[in-house]
Amino acid sequence: MSGCTPGAGRKAGLVVAIGVDIIKTSRFEKLLRTKTTSFAERLSKRILHHTHELPKFNEMDAGRQVQFMAGSWAAKEALFKTLHQEEQDVFNFNEWYRYNNSSGKPFISNDKYDYNNEEFHLSISHDDSLVIATVLRQKLYSLDSKGL
Ligand SMILES: CC(C)(COP(=O)(O)OP(=O)(O)OC[C@H]1O[C@@H](n2cnc3c(N)ncnc32)[C@H](O)[C@@H]1OP(=O)(O)O)[C@@H](O)C(=O)NCCC(=O)NCCS
Repeated sequence: MSGCTPGAGRKAGLVVAIGVDIIKTSRFEKLLRTKTTSFAERLSKRILHHTHELPKFNEMDAGRQVQFMAGSWAAKEALFKTLHQEEQDVFNFNEWYRYNNSSGKPFISNDKYDYNNEEFHLSISHDDSLVIATVLRQKLYSLDSKGL
């Protein structure tokens, strides 16, 4: 169990799955810099969430775009590994998006599916040309009603 918070509305999280992915940013550097603009546009629309990620990406300079795209890809590949078979069968990169809570901690989420008290914790690290992402999927239970 993890994620306990003191006071009313206390919840405990039960780990459901873990996923990890590692990628070289140079893969995206090649794709974004050497292919046509229309290829880069199609790639970004396929990978990035159309309202939460794509507008931010379009405002970034070229170097930051590569890092952002690689981070998003790694996060979503790691997320994919936490999904059940039937969820993997309908997986689309651009339905998921990364966000940070008020203290900066990253999560990954999907507005389309109701994950019924589940959350997906994300941890990303960059070093030189490598990006590594880990996703921890957990189901939340209220400690108040059932007294878990
Ligand atoms: C399954 C997938 C996540 C593997 O990722 P990858 O970058 O090719 O390879 P990685 O080295 O990161 O991961 C390989 C490990 O993933 C694990 N894995 C394989 N299939 C998996 C699945 N369906 N669910 C969870 N984990 C899986 C295995 O442990 C494998 O390692 P092993 O062969 O030593 O056992 C990826 O191929 C995939 O299908 N992604 C889905 C998203 C998508 O549509 N991608 C588009 C590709 S163009």
